[in-house]
Amino acid sequence: MKQRMQALFLFMFCPLFFKNSFSQVNSPTNITDKKWWKESIVYQIYPRSFKDSDGDGIGDLKGLLSELDYVKSLGINAVWLNPIYSSPNDDNGYDVSDYRSIMHDFGTMADFDALLNGMHERGIKLVMDLVVNHSSDEHEWFRQSRSSRNNPYRDYYHWWNAENGKPPYRYSLFDVNGDAWMYDSLTNAYYLHYFSRKQPDLNWENPKLRGEVYDIMKFWADKGVDGFRLDAFQFAAKDTTFPIFPQGFEKNFVLYYATQGNLHGYLQEMNKEVLSKYNVMSVAEGAGNSFTDAHNLVDANRHELNMAYAFDGVDIARPEGYSVLHFKEVFTRWDSAFANNGWLSVFLANHDQARLVSRFGNDGPAFRELSSKMLSTFILTMRGTPYYYNGDELGMTNAGFDKIEDYRDVQTLNEYQHQKNVGGDLQKFLKRKQFESRDNGRTPFQWNGSKNAGFTSGTPWIAVNKNYKNIHAALQEKDPNSCLNYFKSLVKLRNDNKPILVYGKYTLLDKNNPAVYAYTRENEGQKMLILLNFSPANAAASIQLKMSNAQLLLSNYKAAPFVDKEKSIITLKPYQAVIYQL
Ligand code: GLC
Repeated sequence: MKQRMQALFLFMFCPLFFKNSFSQVNSPTNITDKKWWKESIVYQIYPRSFKDSDGDGIGDLKGLLSELDYVKSLGINAVWLNPIYSSPNDDNGYDVSDYRSIMHDFGTMADFDALLNGMHERGIKLVMDLVVNHSSDEHEWFRQSRSSRNNPYRDYYHWWNAENGKPPYRYSLFDVNGDAWMYDSLTNAYYLHYFSRKQPDLNWENPKLRGEVYDIMKFWADKGVDGFRLDAFQFAAKDTTFPIFPQGFEKNFVLYYATQGNLHGYLQEMNKEVLSKYNVMSVAEGAGNSFTDAHNLVDANRHELNMAYAFDGVDIARPEGYSVLHFKEVFTRWDSAFANNGWLSVFLANHDQARLVSRFGNDGPAFRELSSKMLSTFILTMRGTPYYYNGDELGMTNAGFDKIEDYRDVQTLNEYQHQKNVGGDLQKFLKRKQFESRDNGRTPFQWNGSKNAGFTSGTPWIAVNKNYKNIHAALQEKDPNSCLNYFKSLVKLRNDNKPILVYGKYTLLDKNNPAVYAYTRENEGQKMLILLNFSPANAAASIQLKMSNAQLLLSNYKAAPFVDKEKSIITLKPYQAVIYQL
């Protein structure tokens, strides 16, 4: 039971134990080669929870369209939209039943076209989520596939005929029993599902299936979308002989599932067939098991994807807390492995995580705003493309649900059922979910202080956070010191200083300081110093830099920190964040 919990946890956060396996691959592509996707700040929108226009309690495209001026006002220039395709919603759109149509709850293709137009008119690029490691079991391909062993779609999925005995154990992330093989009596065979039973894995080894996916991508790229985020794609390629994995492999299943078989070959084919023909960006969720894996996905001369989205950083937060030294070490290690070659995504939150400020900061009344601003400062001042999750700009917090009926997420619900089946400690489980459930990050966006936080006039599909009267966009727009306005200042600072903050070299300072994360970013003689106090107490950083001409560009406190110029020591207040131009 404990192992299963660990394995589930491992998936969502995918801790990759990077050995020093990185070596320079082929001829390096210059890190400072200018690209729009390097210079973008990606704002991730979870459409189900963003804005409802028709009172059915579910966010939709018209709702999002009506708030595009808000999105624009943030200063960001790209949006990653979670899946909006037709879906029975076993996993909120990550189970697609038709890749060329819009989910009924979200609206119509006409709404989509208007949305894309509205974004482009405002200078915002649109990155679509593409879910092609698996489809829904309600997709026509799967209906056909399961109907008979001779059906032409049979090989679109992975089947194991039951007369050959039980298939070798494969671990499933969302299955109540953790078993990735589901028996289907219709053809007396098992199908493979790494995620829920309603998410059968597609067979990437079948060239016909691959061709179908490329056509789908072209359909959207021809419409004018600006990029694709390939969901769970590191798991797409499989060894279809299904060898037996060692006992207990599920504890570190990413080692066995990620970047297997001919994954790179498929990505090169996808690049040739689709990506190279459009000015689109591409990012796959997960970056394999080593720096070599991550580089192989994104080195420009290999013609695969544009940037890596690795989980080592987001995985650091734990219910029992985390070490700032560890945090610094992980982000520094990743930066240095990509210092000359390749490109990274920088993020601390998304729709698969609980809220940024609750996981990495301090969501108590005294420090919520300060720590939220401090974490935003980190995300917006690192090298790599920042991905920022909707609602974090307000410092939205975890939901605090205390009963299972409040949850909607298939992962939480199935894990609860599993705990129940095995006689697990349900109270302990619920306590843990208050910290880590994905639903924490999926409660409705808090627009204003009116009913349901202005998200819907109906009954929201998931409860609005109780704190919405104090934490909402309308309030924060009026307050010059709000999290929202601080975020806008950060975005502006990054956009105004791209040579330094997008492309500039990163150097860690005061490495062994257990409370303060200090680093510089520099390019062509220009340098910025960033100091972040991750603790709720005053903390000093010894930075060994000349501060005589230092100009304070941004801080989350009104008063500048105390600088002892002689000793180059800067004393920061609790959760203080400062950016200096040196
Ligand atoms: C990815 C998505 C997650 C989804 C899973 C299965 O990890 O981010 O939300 O549940 O894939 O599609």
